[in-house]
Amino acid sequence: MEISYEKAATLKVHPQDSALGFGTYFSDYMFNMDYSPEKGWYNPRIEPYGPLQMDPSTMVLHYGQAIFEGLKAYRTDSGAIQLFRPRDNFKRFNRSASRLCIPEIDEDVVLEALIRLLKIEEKWVPSAPGTSLYIRPTIIATDPYIGLRSSHTYRFFIILSPVGAYYPEGFDPVKIWVTTEYVRAVRGGVGEAKTAGNYAASLYATELANKDGYTQVMWLDGVERKYIEEVGSMNIFFMIGDEIVTPALTGSILSGITRDSVIALAESWGRTVSQRRISIAEIIEAHDQGELKEVFGSGTAAVISPVGRIKYSGREMVVGDGNVGPFAAKLFKELVDIQYGRAQDPFGWVITV
Ligand code: COI
Repeated sequence: MEISYEKAATLKVHPQDSALGFGTYFSDYMFNMDYSPEKGWYNPRIEPYGPLQMDPSTMVLHYGQAIFEGLKAYRTDSGAIQLFRPRDNFKRFNRSASRLCIPEIDEDVVLEALIRLLKIEEKWVPSAPGTSLYIRPTIIATDPYIGLRSSHTYRFFIILSPVGAYYPEGFDPVKIWVTTEYVRAVRGGVGEAKTAGNYAASLYATELANKDGYTQVMWLDGVERKYIEEVGSMNIFFMIGDEIVTPALTGSILSGITRDSVIALAESWGRTVSQRRISIAEIIEAHDQGELKEVFGSGTAAVISPVGRIKYSGREMVVGDGNVGPFAAKLFKELVDIQYGRAQDPFGWVITV
């Protein structure tokens, strides 16, 4: 594929690795490509990072026809750059595209474009411990039209952001807040697609959680409001006695790539992970019987995030002794060791750029 390249007149000053936080800095270049029904995906190009110019009637602004992905590039000790399961991200991207009536992309073409972009932007991959280059592929609907239908034209872009830890807590346990009043998604809706509206839908309850001193919301199912679905920007795992449990993918839960990696790693250690319905009542009972050993979230941005406290219906439960559990710690270490090239990758997850 012929990708055109326009050089930037000036380049940005790189932030200190220690000042990165999450999602505030962006690299010098971005990848862009457009879609029309006549041409399909066309004009792939690497251009200076900059504002998108759009008509106020652009469909994405009104009806939220937008999908995105999140993956990371990691700097290894030898200075090489690695991607973690990028094809899985692009496969999920296409599942989201299909659900949102957006034309699918060619996974090979887009992976090639990403690698090309990363080769140009390689200095933007930070090297301090815990840092990486977060990659955000996105598609938005671009027809200037305010009738309700799916757009005929689209813009695909990839932007790059050097990042540190997602949560200010780093790997310290986060506090989560269960809501029975608000729901994120329902079965048959768009909950399993990585689409902008799911995140917009999560904001109100998240603000209530934050006001109460909690970092994230734990969502229950949209119908009975009994069964656990996911947490904020992560999938969720529980260790109850000896059983490791994560909610089954029922159609309203995001099919996390880190979630899948956790299951594969646990299985490679001879542990099985039950993917089943799990109710908040079962968590309370396990807690009260001293059987709730560990709780942790998984996600690209957050990696593995131990949960120390859960508030439900006015009552706060402390998980284990409130500290990072040994299983979450072992998972975190193994996962990041593979991502940063410090451990063997028997799963074939890593691609060197
Ligand atoms: C990710 O984990 O990559 C996500 O997309 C979550 C986002 C809210 C930062």
